[in-house]
Amino acid sequence: MQVTAQNTKPESLILVIFGGSGDLTKRKLVPSLYQLFKQGKLPHRFAVLALGRTDYTDDSYRPHLDEALQMYLAEGEYDASLAEQLLSSVYYLAMDPAEQSDYPRLVERLSQLDKQIDNPANYIYYLSTPPLLYGVVPQHLKHVGLNSEEGGALRRIVIEKPFGYDLASALELNEIYRSAFQEHQLYRIDHFLGKETVQDIMALRFANGIFEPLWNRNYIDRVEITAVENMGIESRGGFYDQTGALRDMVQNHLAQLVALTAMEPPVQFNADLFRNEVVKVYQSFRPMSDDEVRRRVIRGQYTEGEWRGELHRAYREEDKVAGNSRTETFVAMKLYIDNWRWQGVPFYIRTGKMMPTKVTEIVVHFKPTPHKMFTSLDGGTVPNQLIIRIQPDEGISLKFAAKVPGSGFEVKKVSMNFTYDQLGGLASGDAYSRLLEDCMLGDSTLFTRSDAVEMSWRFFDPILRLWQEDDFPLYGYPAGTWGPKQSDLIIERDHSWTNPCRNLTNSELYCEL
Ligand code: BG6
Repeated sequence: MQVTAQNTKPESLILVIFGGSGDLTKRKLVPSLYQLFKQGKLPHRFAVLALGRTDYTDDSYRPHLDEALQMYLAEGEYDASLAEQLLSSVYYLAMDPAEQSDYPRLVERLSQLDKQIDNPANYIYYLSTPPLLYGVVPQHLKHVGLNSEEGGALRRIVIEKPFGYDLASALELNEIYRSAFQEHQLYRIDHFLGKETVQDIMALRFANGIFEPLWNRNYIDRVEITAVENMGIESRGGFYDQTGALRDMVQNHLAQLVALTAMEPPVQFNADLFRNEVVKVYQSFRPMSDDEVRRRVIRGQYTEGEWRGELHRAYREEDKVAGNSRTETFVAMKLYIDNWRWQGVPFYIRTGKMMPTKVTEIVVHFKPTPHKMFTSLDGGTVPNQLIIRIQPDEGISLKFAAKVPGSGFEVKKVSMNFTYDQLGGLASGDAYSRLLEDCMLGDSTLFTRSDAVEMSWRFFDPILRLWQEDDFPLYGYPAGTWGPKQSDLIIERDHSWTNPCRNLTNSELYCEL
């Protein structure tokens, strides 16, 4: 596999953020821009134009971002003078992104800024708005000619997830984007792909000779992928109740993790070849009949429960959530990949809010030895597992059996561990910085291509449709637990989910890698 040549960054650029007063801008985008600025990675002549309906001016907007930087940068990272320098290149335009008649004002403001920073109309648009606007903005941009790269201007658009509400709306959105932009201008962002540890799945698999020969149905028994969180929905009730865990986490983030774990090695590491392999994985997801969905997919919603000694309210009691909501905050499912490599190997994936801890990890379970010669102190056969911990305590751990010293021949489970902090440079907020930088560089490898969105929806859409039927169970689970018990039943034989935390009753959770 070869990594293709580096793309180049433009000399000048305006980043136009739709949804300038929104949560994502404050929590992620501006802190990421700060990181890039600090590392000297922004173009020489650079400005941000944030848009929104709130009536800010440049001067009244900047202090909000300054506050956000102080709140969301990691401890010790905030430097007042650096923040001031960055924020002096941030501008605000009060406009309604849904109103076509507001766009000429955008054109005008952009051309003023172009003159100010000597920018040849290079723009990156970032859609950090409610998903309802995803279809509207590109059409309005096209109407005023802000989509076109004619004359050599750089025009790219970054779209947040979820891209589509179901298959039909995703297809429709793809159509709208195709009519206004070309695929190379589109950057559908999935911030999981910006995580170092997610990218490292490819290094682990394709930069090492030892794992790949084992990475198939002959040696792997099953794969588990868990991405759970110990928080509820915080202030996002309005969005979340319309979305649910499947659209928020499974159709995109978890599907990407499955793809990276299961994909064939691309011939070169470039946008087209890498994403071709992702699409092939999605194409191989075995469709489920209604009956299989009922047996293999479990959805849940958190009820009132205790977490670290505090009572957390039920999902239905959260702000802006319907009192009789049937939106899922937990999903677990078993899926199969119908191809040569993975035939018959179950992939168990799950995600949930208000679980005992926040952890994202992939557990690859290898098949046991064909014949048991030694007694294991852990009981049964010592499992051989490769655990890829995406976050927190990022690392990789290999579990195997070793002889217990002394007489006799007993064995016990031991672990070989690698932790990323040995390498340094793994700062929080990195995912968005990395992806913003890639977008400036014109490298779309880590962004989702239209055919991948479509293929992923083709698999998940029938599940959502079946869920609309009243009799499809929605199981409650008390906040602070590992989800509905029914999710244990989808795992075959005598196996169970690998729940990585112990000492749940103590105030200090201990996450074992
Ligand atoms: C986002 C979801 O995409 O990912 C959130 O909308 C979720 O609901 C978040 O909390 C999890 O991301 P991370 O990087 O914190 O694991």
